[in-house]
Order: sequence, then structure tokens, then C-alpha cells
Amino acid sequence: MKLRAVACLAAACMLVACASGDAVKTRPAAISKLPPLQHPVDNPSTPEKVALGKQLFTDPRLSGSGKLSCQSCHYRHLGWGDALLLSRKDDGKLNTRHTPALYNVGYQHVWYWDGRAPTLDLQILAAWRGQLGADPAKVAATLNGVDGYRSQFVAVWRTGATPDNVVETLAAFLRSLVSDNSPWDRHEAGEAGAVSVDAIAGEALFAGKGRCTTCHSPPYYGNSTFFNIGLEHGKTNPDPGRYNVNKLDENRSAFKTPTLRSVAQSAPYFHDGSAATLKDAVRYMAGGGKPDPDKTPILQPTGLSEAEIDQIVAFLKSLSSTEAWVQPALP
Ligand code: HEC
Ligand code: HEC
Repeated sequence: MKLRAVACLAAACMLVACASGDAVKTRPAAISKLPPLQHPVDNPSTPEKVALGKQLFTDPRLSGSGKLSCQSCHYRHLGWGDALLLSRKDDGKLNTRHTPALYNVGYQHVWYWDGRAPTLDLQILAAWRGQLGADPAKVAATLNGVDGYRSQFVAVWRTGATPDNVVETLAAFLRSLVSDNSPWDRHEAGEAGAVSVDAIAGEALFAGKGRCTTCHSPPYYGNSTFFNIGLEHGKTNPDPGRYNVNKLDENRSAFKTPTLRSVAQSAPYFHDGSAATLKDAVRYMAGGGKPDPDKTPILQPTGLSEAEIDQIVAFLKSLSSTEAWVQPALP
């Protein structure tokens, strides 16, 4: 009784606050800096489809062994990465590249560190077969044997699970992994006190002395462009990176420029996981990279001091989104 009265009072206060326009102060409106995401015409997003995709993403029944799910390498609390240098696939073999974060993958034009997948659907099919060691037809049959899955597939696709609609459902879920409405976005929208003084100084260095925006430009702070930043220099078997895809000499050991939205959550960094912390990664970029003959001429030493590097790190930390994640129950 008492509790209910308090709850009613709180609700009444909120109504009053709304009516007087004060609600803005207590709960700031979501700020969207990213344009609306374009969904393919043949795979529009619905809440039911995204909810089903979330279950598939976390379900080990999608793998050959029954032990690994997409989430085994892409965790929400690790910025959709796995905090490992390199991860093991379902067949026990080690990946040769570090697991990337998945935030804002729906905005990319090509996928993977080297951009070899021209569509998100092809990327997912490859991950399902390669990382999860799955036979998609077999998994689809397994899912159709689970009442709770079959009914959801019928509701969403008007048919049971098929390899194609599993991929499309996962794609709809991945397109929902948007990092936006960060403290920095709210600062830019005029919210006082949204970020620290160091973050503000860091952004000025990021765009100015650090020349970081040449490649990591807002609103994505990175997307589908490729550069060799020197990381393969001196390795016995250098990873050819983007060169494997387009055979262009200037793309030798070039890799995708990752988005820096929510980057603070997904250590370690780079395609080889070679930077353990965000500060290590920024320090490497600020130093101009290793002297690889194929390194892009755009990346040059910046002369940023350690204190300035700390300020850039403070700015990058302010680019994290804070949307909720609830682990789904599996049928
Ligand atoms: C064993 C670890 C592992 C598992 C399991 C795994 N991935 Fe990945 N994922 C990776 C690695 C490593 C890469 C980068 C490979 C490369 O670029 O060559 C990657 C890349 C991706 C990308 C590309 C991101 C980008 O920025 O281009 C997407 C999307 C993705 N995975 C989704 C999935 C989905 C969906 C599943 C489940 C079907 C899955 N992954 C399962 C390790 C994993
Ligand atoms: C020439 C274009 C270019 C410039 C200039 C540049 N970057 Fe990058 N950045 C990249 C590329 C490409 C990668 C990924 C390379 C790889 O892993 O092989 C990257 C990776 C990173 C990463 C790691 C992200 C992750 O998820 O692994 C951070 C952090 C970063 N850059 C910050 C900065 C900062 C800070 C500056 C300015 C001091 C800067 N970059 C300047 C192209 C650039």
C-alpha cells in the first residue's frame, strides 16, 4: 500500500515535470548523430526478428560442436569483441586476426578486417560455417525441431528455419548493434557537463594536432576505408590484408579503419590485437607507426605528448554508448 502510494507520487511528479518542461534535465533525450540505418528492402527490421536474431546469436546449437555461439567471441560487455589477442574457432584452430567489435556494422559497405565480404549476409554465412564449424542445413533442421524456435520463424518468415532466413535474422540483429547517443554526442548537442574538460581538449587534439579525423572522421569515426599503418612490419609472414582481395600494391597489409565509437570497451586493439590498452593504441597511431615500406604516407608522427595522448584517450572514452543488454532466454 505504502509502496504503491510512493510510486504514484513519483509518477505524478514526473507528469508535473513533463508538463513544465523540466523532464529534459532529469532524463536527456537520446541524441542521434548517425543517419537512419538502411535496411535491405527484402529484409526489413521488426522487433520480433531482432529478438529472434538475438537468441540465435547467443545459441551454441548454431555450431558444429554444439558448444560455441557467435557470442563466444562477440560479447556485449566487451564492445562485441572477446578481449583476446586471437580466438579459437569451433574446430580448435586459432584465428589469424583479432576479433573485431561489431558496433555499427550495419553502416559498413564491406566486412572483415580486409573487406573481403561484399555483403553482411555473406559475412554471416562465412562466420557460421568457418567460426562455428556449422552445416547450416543441419542446424536449420535442429532449430525446426524446437517448438519455441519453429513458432518464431513461422511468425517472422511464414516458414520454418532455413539456412537463408537464419542468416537474414542474424543480419537484422547485427544491424541493431548501434553505438550512438554517447556523452560526446550529448556534449555536442549542448548538454552541460556531459564530458570532462580533458575529453574536450582531447577532441581538439584528435581533430587538430593528431590529424586523426583524416581517417576516423565523424559521425562514425572510421568506416570502410583501408590503410597499411605499419603493423605487419618485421613479421616473418606478413598478413597481406586488403591486397588479398583486390591485388592493389598500395593495399599490401592494409586493414579496415575501425569505428572508434565505443572503442574503450573492446581492448586489445588492431587487426593483430597487438595494442593491449587504448592508450597503447593511441600512442602507436600518434607515433606514426612502424617504418614499413608499404605504410600509408598519411600516417606521420604527430609530436603529441603523453599528457596529450591521455586527453585523446579521455575523448575516445566519451564516445561509448550505454544502451542496455539483457541476455535472452533460449527456447
Ligand atoms: C571463434 C571466434 C568467433 C566466433 C565464434 C564468431 N566470430 Fe565473428 N569474427 C571473428 C573474427 C576473428 C573476425 C575477423 C576475421 C577477419 O577479419 O578476417 C570476425 C568478424 C566478424 C564480423 C565482421 C566485422 C567487421 O567489422 O567487418 C561480423 C559481422 C561477425 N564476425 C559476426 C559474427 C557472427 C554473426 C557470428 C556467429 C555466426 C560470429 N561472428 C562468430 C571471430 C569470431
Ligand atoms: C591513415 C589513416 C589513419 C590515421 C591518420 C589514424 N588512424 Fe587510427 N586506425 C587506422 C586504421 C587503418 C586502423 C586499423 C589498422 C589495423 O588494425 O591494421 C586504425 C586503428 C585505430 C585504433 C584501434 C581501434 C580498434 O578497434 O582496434 C585506434 C584506437 C585508433 N586507430 C586511434 C587513432 C588516433 C587517436 C589517431 C590520431 C592520433 C589515429 N587513429 C589516426 C587508420 C588511421
